[in-house]
Amino acid sequence: MKILITGGCGFIGSNFIRHILNKYPHYEIINLDALTYAGNLENLRDIEESPRYSFIRGRIEGAATVKAVMKGVDCVVNFAAESHVDRSILDAQPFLTTNVIGTHILLEAARAVSIKRFIHISTDEVYGTLGDEGKFTEETPLRPNSPYSASKASGDLLVRAFYETYKFPAIIVRPSNNYGPYQFPEKFIPLMITNLLEGKPIPIYGRGENVRDWLFVEDNCRAIDAILHDGKVGEIYNVGGDGEKRNIELAKKILAILGKDDSYITFVKDRPGHDFRYALNNSKIEGEIGWRPSVKIEEGLEKTIHWYKENEWWWMPLKERLSAESKGFWGR
Ligand SMILES: NC(=O)c1ccc[n+]([C@@H]2O[C@H](COP(=O)([O-])OP(=O)(O)OC[C@H]3O[C@@H](n4cnc5c(N)ncnc54)[C@H](O)[C@@H]3O)[C@@H](O)[C@H]2O)c1
Repeated sequence: MKILITGGCGFIGSNFIRHILNKYPHYEIINLDALTYAGNLENLRDIEESPRYSFIRGRIEGAATVKAVMKGVDCVVNFAAESHVDRSILDAQPFLTTNVIGTHILLEAARAVSIKRFIHISTDEVYGTLGDEGKFTEETPLRPNSPYSASKASGDLLVRAFYETYKFPAIIVRPSNNYGPYQFPEKFIPLMITNLLEGKPIPIYGRGENVRDWLFVEDNCRAIDAILHDGKVGEIYNVGGDGEKRNIELAKKILAILGKDDSYITFVKDRPGHDFRYALNNSKIEGEIGWRPSVKIEEGLEKTIHWYKENEWWWMPLKERLSAESKGFWGR
């Protein structure tokens, strides 16, 4: 099987490529990635020599490139996106270009070659926000609150429309907040870990009361793999981590693992339109596909912290670039 993966030089995409190449000895992967600030060839250094892997630098909204790479492809997994909420608040334009126009260009090109399956990676953020109770199901109406989540919801609606109109074989996946190795250090967990490893304070929005449902990236890769092979075309699958934590609780866990006290916590002005709580109901994927998360947040954090400790060479240059930008993008 030949799979086109878009955005494979990012956090989840690179973990997924490694997962697929290791698990399926006969699969081939083409990775189409624009190498934006978030894309990094170092994420796949260990597999770039594999004869079953090829990389093409290009944008998903570039119709000619996309048409050319689609030839001979059986399935597409679309990870490519502008993914950081704080950046979308400052400038939504790149989010619309990649997450909406780019999705449309990919859909058209995949339809033209009668693709067997198109897996579109969305997010739980399209559902908006929860109060203290309840969980999002796949039937929850879309109520995105940030320019990022609005652009992701728009992409989802196009995918849905292609299924309804053309019986295009698409599936939408909505994972919760991921964490793990190779996550760009502007995101909440790697920002906290790397700041603490550098002896710096950790910024927390508001009073740290916001709740996220944390999913270890390897669990998400297993879920996307299972959906690619066993998911039903035209369906949506939530992928939650069963790892709900308030931001402040999470920060304290990371501080404890690194043997630091609470004096490193700095509360900063809250993000505008900050969603209070996300939590996903996993009944559908558990019932239909038999996937459930296997890594508890404590174990996942230990693994992630260990990885960042061992791989300073990877994140140090990225932190330097971020501090040169000095825009202070943090948290998701
Ligand atoms: N990280 C999370 O917690 C999370 C949670 C739920 C859903 N998601 C979704 O999962 C997907 C992957 O997220 P991530 O955290 O790995 O993102 P990321 O920002 O780490 O990586 C995105 C990748 O896409 C590439 N890219 C961006 N624009 C492109 C374009 N126009 N054409 C081609 N490539 C382009 C970048 O170079 C980068 O390699 C995204 O669709 C995101 O919305 C992420």
